[in-house]
Amino acid sequence: MPSLVSHPAAAPLAGRPHTPADKSLSQRALILAALSLGASRIRNLLAGEDVRATAQALRACGVSITQTAAREHHIQGLGTGGLHAPDDILDFANSGTGARLMLGVMATHPHTATFTGDASLRRRPMRRVLAPLAEFGATATAREGDFLPLTLTGAREPLPIRHRLQTASAQVKSALLLAGLNAPGETILAEPRPSRDHTERMLPCFGGEIRATPQEDGATALHLPGEQNLHAAELEIPADPSSAAFLAAAALIVPRSDITIENVAVNPRRAGFYACLREMGADLAFANERIRHNEPIADIRARCGDAPALRGIAVPAERAASMIDEYPILAVVAAFAEGETRMEGLAELRVKESDRLAAVTDLLRVNGVQAESGADHLIVSGAGKPKGGGMAASHGDHRIAMSALILGLGASAPTAIDDDSMIATSFPDFPATIAAIGGEIRPG
Ligand code: S3P
Repeated sequence: MPSLVSHPAAAPLAGRPHTPADKSLSQRALILAALSLGASRIRNLLAGEDVRATAQALRACGVSITQTAAREHHIQGLGTGGLHAPDDILDFANSGTGARLMLGVMATHPHTATFTGDASLRRRPMRRVLAPLAEFGATATAREGDFLPLTLTGAREPLPIRHRLQTASAQVKSALLLAGLNAPGETILAEPRPSRDHTERMLPCFGGEIRATPQEDGATALHLPGEQNLHAAELEIPADPSSAAFLAAAALIVPRSDITIENVAVNPRRAGFYACLREMGADLAFANERIRHNEPIADIRARCGDAPALRGIAVPAERAASMIDEYPILAVVAAFAEGETRMEGLAELRVKESDRLAAVTDLLRVNGVQAESGADHLIVSGAGKPKGGGMAASHGDHRIAMSALILGLGASAPTAIDDDSMIATSFPDFPATIAAIGGEIRPG
């Protein structure tokens, strides 16, 4: 039984759809506000399940978080090192970012906390954060294989660390920076390959200090002074470029569409998907570019001519970190292009909310698109308009579910998914947003 069905659009998509707030920035705003002294005000916090789970975990540690208006939250922070011992298990549901960043926070608090999550999160690797967090003096007992559930005891007398990041992962980097905030002395991280830098950009908004210096081997060294006093801040969260990606993709595959997505975070370390679209020949424009709270923001206009005149491209491995969450939707766009799109360096996709490499290959094939994946690559053979008509398995992954539904808007026959429950982690009201621009996604 399909849970949602997406119907080929009968008319062009048009409008200025309301796009959810950025998930990465929402998570960091909550956590940094909790670690600051005073009352922070955050406007436009993402109302998704992932952010709700992190807020609940912070509340369990004594932080007061209240919604004061439709789009405004007040957070009464407890200061660096000020979180209480949690009074319950911390359940991060589907959120890898929430779990990993809070592991970092708790690693330098002298408390014991138990972390868990849903079936998808319990399959995701935690060793990548637990190993470096042990260098601060934290200890953890995890389920075999270093998976959740796990119990972490933070260091009573934390030590600052010097660490070279092994994976281009902002979750790991941010976990270590958050841990370093409450260690004495300077924590130094060497980042050989860039990952999203939202934590580094947001820290100064709370009065925090961090410095980046280039190293001889091409890496960047991040210097974080320890035992910093952060103060409350007022922030407004921009729209999520990863959520905007679905809307832009829809406009590029439905003939004569024209949509504008306002206030989107266009941080260059998140913008790889949009670079790919341009290379494919998409009609895409960034307007009204500005900086707010250290983050670049723009309005994105996406249009399609009488038919999607897109061509296949080669996406280099070096681009992977800047569009890690966008490969499933890029693969869908590639299905509408002429020729082959080859994406390399995708091993990390196997350890996201699902094995995204396998899941996206299946969702394309079940809808009549030729796709092939290997250990860390994906090749999609575009041939104009895909057949559609298939039901894709979501595998508990919001981005797989939404990608399959977007495909249906431009395909010859409707597409379906088996489960849509997890879409609310990042994009509550997804079907309603699609309806607002003229598309049709209905219960099956
Ligand atoms: C995120 C980082 C990415 C991304 C995730 C959010 C973050 O994970 O996939 O959705 O907010 O730091 P990795 O940094 O582990 O690749």
